Amino acid sequence: TQKLILDVDTGIDDSLALLYLLASPEAEILAITCTAGNVPARQVAINNLAWLELCGAPQIEVALGSEVPVIAPLMTTEETHGDQGIGWATLPAPTRALSERHATQVWIEHVRAHPGEVIGLVTGPLTNLALALRIEPELPRLLQRLVVMGGAFNHEGNTTPTTEWNIAVDPDAAAIVFQAFSGLPAERRPLVCALDLTEQIEMKPEHIRRIAELAGSTPAEVISPDDPEGTRSQASNPVVRHLSDAVRFYMEFHRDQGQGFLAHMHDPFAAALALHPEMAATRAATVDVELSGTLTRGTTVADWRGMWGREHNAAIAWETDPAAFFDHLVERVGSFARA
Ligand code: BDR
Ligand code: CA
Repeated sequence: TQKLILDVDTGIDDSLALLYLLASPEAEILAITCTAGNVPARQVAINNLAWLELCGAPQIEVALGSEVPVIAPLMTTEETHGDQGIGWATLPAPTRALSERHATQVWIEHVRAHPGEVIGLVTGPLTNLALALRIEPELPRLLQRLVVMGGAFNHEGNTTPTTEWNIAVDPDAAAIVFQAFSGLPAERRPLVCALDLTEQIEMKPEHIRRIAELAGSTPAEVISPDDPEGTRSQASNPVVRHLSDAVRFYMEFHRDQGQGFLAHMHDPFAAALALHPEMAATRAATVDVELSGTLTRGTTVADWRGMWGREHNAAIAWETDPAAFFDHLVERVGSFARA
């Protein structure tokens, strides 16, 4: 199995990434660390505890991380993910408490205990990892690999014209991380899933319908673009019902943005690559983050051609087969929800 630490700002697509990993027998989730992003960190923690209980995995440690970015003021995006970060879903309140350890401690202790065996998967701002690096600068060499959802390279931003949300929330943390992860051999460089590819990962109502069918849920049609805004799923299977209610909100958001009744599955795609990096072809680059631009702070810049004269420090996911990814996701999550 593959040991993983998930650092998240759950989040609708973070939620689906978690369901996918819980559904994947090859994934061993050591802990979930929570960061502020889509919603405040304490709400992120509640969401993770609630999903884990719903999915019968209450033993997984959930630790609170930083409640603010390392320097920047916090911004959250309830309009994208709903007031609680899980769209229209209303999960039962968790009965379990948070870990007593801080997220940075969780990262460092797990990675030290299993040198070379842990993949760190970050699907939120890089705040916790940046802080952990200040305490344990050897993390890049102790991790098996880092997988990050973040950035927009030869692609428009989703937060400002040139920035992607996870980097825009905490650009200083992102810069610390990319600089710290230089000097690694090619196969151990951070695998970066940026908007360039994740905006091609379009979940449609059909995918939720297929998950529902696999889970044996009725009625099969859980999301239809024709239903009025905020229609709640009637599916009897609770995982399908909550998932469907969460994703419906995300699809309504994308529709309101003029992108169609679909939702970009940024974080589930990064989760899939953490387990199966062969699902995407990558491009090597030296990545850094603009910290001082008046219009461009938080922009990720890829030096593809070595113009800076600095070694490559990232493998950027560049090409994939979105249909194959969705077949994989649907099959995993649908069978899991059935069980
Ligand atoms: C990223 O921003 C968040 O809103 C999503 O969860 C994803 O991690 C996409 O830019
Ligand atoms: Ca996220």
